[in-house]
Formats: sequence, structure tokens, C-alpha cells
Amino acid sequence: MNAPSVPVLTIDGPSASGKGTVAERVARALGFHFLDSGALYRLTALSAMQAGVALDDEAGVAKLASALPARFGDGRVWLADADVTEAIRAEAVGEGASKVAALPAVRAALLDRQRAYRQAPGLVADGRDMGTVIFPDAPAKVFLTASAEARAERRYKQLIEKGNSASLPALVADMRARDARDTARAVAPLKPAPDALLLDTTHMDIALAVEAVLAHYREQSKI
Ligand code: DC
Repeated sequence: MNAPSVPVLTIDGPSASGKGTVAERVARALGFHFLDSGALYRLTALSAMQAGVALDDEAGVAKLASALPARFGDGRVWLADADVTEAIRAEAVGEGASKVAALPAVRAALLDRQRAYRQAPGLVADGRDMGTVIFPDAPAKVFLTASAEARAERRYKQLIEKGNSASLPALVADMRARDARDTARAVAPLKPAPDALLLDTTHMDIALAVEAVLAHYREQSKI
């Protein structure tokens, strides 16, 4: 069933706000499906880069987005027969995703695919415009934020843990630049839905954030 009667909990916010991890844990706790919408923009960017389609070629990128051979399962992400779980997390692909996400035709091409995830018993949808554009009728919405410095520090730790080199000041600058692009774009800009709960996780660990989101969901659905 793909109907408004199926509950959706939307979790939006800027990159590295912790929302991906929080959303996944909340989905598991509720036994709901999980949509990582950012992965769709990352897959679109990767697919364009591989096909040699310029990231500002709106019609070309939208065509790729509408026929994206993407599959998710067992914590892995596939593009046709290739396991691209790690590849889509590369900084260059994240940059590319932010660029293609600013193109209206690309967003339109991914709209129905995202709504199709709304299936019983429910969906936790993670992104930038889940509560504002994709599921405006969702009964529960959360907007997760954290300061750019806190988010850059989290990303820094992740990169170092994976054995990559990283510069904290460069990450803070990247974070600000991506926020500015995501917030200023004309279509589906990054902003909280008027009915979203604002949750600042600058001084909050993941477990606390998960608890706060679950409490909000239960309150909204009067369980
Ligand atoms: O959440 P993420 O870092 O994986 O997202 C990658 C890019 O995709 C990010 O720059 C913003 C964009 N995005 C978007 O515009 N709308 C969404 N619903 C999800 C992601």
C-alpha cells in the first residue's frame, strides 16, 4: 500500500547533523522502512560522472535520475551490478550530489521513486525536503541541526577513523559552503517544515537524539 494512511516520520537537516544514523536507528526501533534520499542524489551524481554527463547538464542528468538502476539491501547500495556503498560516500560524489540536487528536473525525476517507499507498516524518510516537499502530510516531522563546527568535527573523526587524512578548518569551510548551496537553492531549499520539531544535536549524543525523535513520533501518533 502506498497511501497517505501509511505513517511517515520525516527527518531533515544539513549534512553530518547525525540524521542518517538517527533515522536508521529510529526506523529499526519502529520496524519501519527507511529511505536515505541523499543516497539517490549521490547515485545520480556518480552515475553522471561515470557516464561523462556534465553535472550542470540538467536534461542529461535528469534522464539518468529517472532510470537509475539503484538497489538497496543488507546495508549495501547497488548501481546496476556494481556495489557502490563506499563509492557514493566519497567527498567528490557528495559535492556532485549537492550540484545535481539544485536542478529542478532532477528533483522532479526522483519524486515518485521517493514516494513509492511509503509502504506499510511505515516509513522513516531522511533528507532535506522530506517534510516540506516529498511527504508534506507526514504526521511527524523532525529537523535535526548542529553547529557547522560540531558537524565538521564529526565528519573529521569519521574520516580519520577510516584512515583518511583530513583538515578540520577545510571541513568547516566545506560544511558552510554546502549548507549555503542547499539553503539558497530555488527548488526544495533546506529549511524546516513549519510543523517540524527542531532538534539541535550540537551537545547531544546519538542515543539521546534517537530517544527524542521516538518520543516526538509517539506523541504525534498518540501511541
Ligand atoms: O544527505 P547527503 O549528504 O547524503 O546528501 C547529499 C546531497 O544531496 C546534499 O548536498 C543535499 C542533497 N539532498 C537533497 O537535496 N535533498 C534530499 N532530500 C537529500 C539530499
